[in-house]
Amino acid sequence: MAEPILKWAGGKRELLPEIISFLPLDFRERRFHEPFFGGGAVAFWMEPISGTINDINPRLMRFYEVVRDHVDELIEDAKGHVSEKDYYYECRREFNKSILEGEELDKVREASLLLFLNKTAYNGLYRVNKKGAFNVPFGKYQNPTIVPEERLRKASEVLRNLEIKVGDFEYVRKEARAGDLVYLDPPYQPVSETADFTAYSSQGFGFDEQKKLRDLCLGLHKKRVLFVLSNSWTQPMRELYDKASGFEIKRVEAHRFISCDASGRGKIHEILVTNVPRRSRVGRKKASVFVTDPYQQVLTEYTQAES
Ligand SMILES: C[S@@+](CC[C@H](N)C(=O)[O-])C[C@H]1O[C@@H](n2cnc3c(N)ncnc32)[C@H](O)[C@@H]1O
Repeated sequence: MAEPILKWAGGKRELLPEIISFLPLDFRERRFHEPFFGGGAVAFWMEPISGTINDINPRLMRFYEVVRDHVDELIEDAKGHVSEKDYYYECRREFNKSILEGEELDKVREASLLLFLNKTAYNGLYRVNKKGAFNVPFGKYQNPTIVPEERLRKASEVLRNLEIKVGDFEYVRKEARAGDLVYLDPPYQPVSETADFTAYSSQGFGFDEQKKLRDLCLGLHKKRVLFVLSNSWTQPMRELYDKASGFEIKRVEAHRFISCDASGRGKIHEILVTNVPRRSRVGRKKASVFVTDPYQQVLTEYTQAES
């Protein structure tokens, strides 16, 4: 079973059992798309899969390309990093050179810097300013694991069957065909003014984008594409998806570990929306077992369901 290789705000590891329970039992037979990839917790859990992954953050998606195509070189370069404050700021400057000074970085070096900054930045945040420069301070971790070698190699294998894209989530409207499966995990609708964290990229994600995303879900449903979507449990989100008849919505509980506002940590509620028919879903009971032993269990259950 593969695991995420980066810490990512809004990472979905904790919600995996809930999300898995909404997936169709035959999810590995379907083409899969994840347009808001981030740390990719769901896709890495689901492996082996084929299809597309996408994020609006170009450096993030270049990172995954390097993991897929040049994992040995990446590991070798990343082994040279040290978790030390002055060194961190040197690396941050080097990483931002392409943005601030237009100086192109070697892609393996860029990926190695992204990995290092991700493992040593404050709270593991990826946050950029208006110009797109990474601006998170040093995180003062005791002995962070900078090169999770085994995970990187496993992730490299998983990514081999996936087309890596960079851009807006809308691409999936054309890309997905009837019978495909899409998992949508956009930047969340803020639960409060202070909890607003959408600066994964220099472009924000406002309510207009949330509406476009709901319309995309309606379009996917019409094309008989299956989808599961997560977001924060807020009144506007409930109204947006309540009005979209035919979808099931569910409130689930989660904890937030990465937040720029300490009061944003703790118990929160999230919304899951899906058009996967109940009768063909993994379901809650099986999901809690699958989460620790995904491949074995899903195959067994799937064979039983078929016979
Ligand atoms: C909540 S995070 C996804 C977290 C992911 N599911 C995980 O497990 O780590 C949302 C992601 O959407 C990306 N994003 C923001 N606006 C976007 C857009 N318009 N199109 C595609 N991706 C976007 C962000 O860069 C961020 O990585």
